[in-house]
Amino acid sequence: MKITYLGHSCFKLDHEGTAVIVDPFLDNNPAAPLGSADITVDAILVTHGHADHLGDAVVIARRCACPVVASYELCQLLAEQGVAIEPMHVGGEIAFAWGTVKMTHALHGSAVETLGAEFAHGGLAGGYLVTMGGVTMYHAGDTGLFGDMKLLPEFRRIDVAALPIGDRFTMGPADARLAASWLRPRLSIPMHYNTFPPILQDGPGWVDSLKAIGLSGRAMQPGETCLVLA
Ligand code: NI
Ligand code: MN
Repeated sequence: MKITYLGHSCFKLDHEGTAVIVDPFLDNNPAAPLGSADITVDAILVTHGHADHLGDAVVIARRCACPVVASYELCQLLAEQGVAIEPMHVGGEIAFAWGTVKMTHALHGSAVETLGAEFAHGGLAGGYLVTMGGVTMYHAGDTGLFGDMKLLPEFRRIDVAALPIGDRFTMGPADARLAASWLRPRLSIPMHYNTFPPILQDGPGWVDSLKAIGLSGRAMQPGETCLVLA
């Protein structure tokens, strides 16, 4: 699986000609290395309805004629905008031709801000276990630390874990380090930090802190790619 970090919580995953993007927050993201028009994918995964995750999902889905995978409630809102949907919910799994997606719990909100600063009910927030080519990535979405994260390695051996470290809206560095200690991924990637001033954190410092618990990580710069073999 080739993993490209596109800033904030956005990752593009490529394997054998299939591309999937998670939380495509690009055009309004000051840290994004490219725009939504540069993205060609086969599926879009959205963890929850907040604008910094739903992002450009609708425009990319329309242009690429690809489905959006998200919670049932969020999918209904997207279907109203003429987007193809693959609704699912926490605990469920979908097997696609290119791999599997299991939706995991996240301790967070999922309201969708609509025009006029009103909010639509976007269901529950989630995360995803995405398996492509025998490699599983856990994208935690936005979440506080929760003890049932300990269950995730029972479902899949987690090769890569993308964990929010920004604090304020999600786990901070200490809680994310504890999460990594439970998940025991081969590679931990910090996300959801440094995009905006309220979530400034030391990504390389967090990765360094994992060494003491026998884990390794990588603070990817937006635009960077890494290859994770099965
Ligand atoms: Ni959020
Ligand atoms: Mn967020």
